[in-house]
Amino acid sequence: MCTIGVVGLGYWGPNLVRNLIENRNCTRVTVCDIDPAAIERITRRYPTAVPYPRFDDMLADPELSGVMIATPIHTHYELARKAILAGKHVFVEKPFTSSTDQAVNLLTLAEAQKLVVGVGHTFEYSPPVEMIKGIMEAGELGETFYISSTRVNLGLHSKDHSVIWDLAPHDLSMIMYWLGEAPTEVTATGKDFVQKGIPDVAFMTLRFGSGAIAHVQVSWLAPSKLRRTTIVGSAKMLVYDDTEHLEPVKIFDKGVHFKDPDTFGEYKLSYRTGDIVSPKIESSEPLQAEVNDFVMAILDQRSPRADGEDGLRVVQVLEAAERSLQNSGRPEKIEDVKTWI
Ligand SMILES: NC(=O)c1ccc[n+]([C@@H]2O[C@H](COP(=O)([O-])OP(=O)(O)OC[C@H]3O[C@@H](n4cnc5c(N)ncnc54)[C@H](O)[C@@H]3O)[C@@H](O)[C@H]2O)c1
Repeated sequence: MCTIGVVGLGYWGPNLVRNLIENRNCTRVTVCDIDPAAIERITRRYPTAVPYPRFDDMLADPELSGVMIATPIHTHYELARKAILAGKHVFVEKPFTSSTDQAVNLLTLAEAQKLVVGVGHTFEYSPPVEMIKGIMEAGELGETFYISSTRVNLGLHSKDHSVIWDLAPHDLSMIMYWLGEAPTEVTATGKDFVQKGIPDVAFMTLRFGSGAIAHVQVSWLAPSKLRRTTIVGSAKMLVYDDTEHLEPVKIFDKGVHFKDPDTFGEYKLSYRTGDIVSPKIESSEPLQAEVNDFVMAILDQRSPRADGEDGLRVVQVLEAAERSLQNSGRPEKIEDVKTWI
């Protein structure tokens, strides 16, 4: 049993509070926000939540085991650092930090105190994403050739960070989870059409050591909402559409075979189009699984599935993509995270 605090009660934080209140291993939930109206809203909805207007006072609560941080990106590092220095386990919403250096600092501090660090890569807990991981690990798609992901809509423009930091953490965390590797290089192009200096559309290309490549398109400036990922393997192809609730995953038994010609005139490609299968996927709330994984990681003294190192890997790519975008799409190398810690 443990007590968990949530800091940041704006759009996303109340979802964490709800899942903690419903979690049977969490006995007490404390809440904090610099905006008194946000605290008032949440304590009216959840009268058992213990309010703390000041974060330092919440951290001084001797019963508090861990803190979940759902504040704007630029505040993640300072709040997480304070919590770790106070000896609390931390979960930080995506993206983990604003820079690779900050992420490394947090992980180094937490490692010294053997504290759990989780990151809000919610999609890694989504049933379709977990199913795709199983399909790929079983080798059903064959060798992964490429992944192409689109996450666009007419969205809320952020005032202080680009669309890459807002939307791409989802695609990057899924792609790395599925492939089981981080990219070695990224290139990105994009543009700031609406607010100068804040790109609202970006196209990123990632290269992986395995030979796979991936493309991620993110935008706050699109006529309709698309959340679609295509995975093309040597044996089969798969489409995951997160806006499609009945059949989010479809596996296509399609492919092309190149037969090495014996003679010049024999050049031959054969195409295969077989069944399209839509596997049954149980529906459950990803956030419930994510919150439970953090609580159980604290109780079992282990890392959650999406841990701080995963957070660092995503931040590395975001930072490199932002650099590439600022330099007209120059390829940026990404160092292996193992050499950092
Ligand atoms: N995992 C997901 O799918 C998902 C979805 C949406 C948002 N998020 C993430 O959640 C985080 C919050 O996003 P949001 O949309 O809820 O933002 P928001 O602006 O709606 O809410 C942020 C809240 O934090 C409070 N706050 C700001 N600085 C604070 C401080 N120093 N101490 C205490 N409270 C402070 C603000 O008063 C506000 O109530 C971001 O990191 C975002 O990327 C994750």
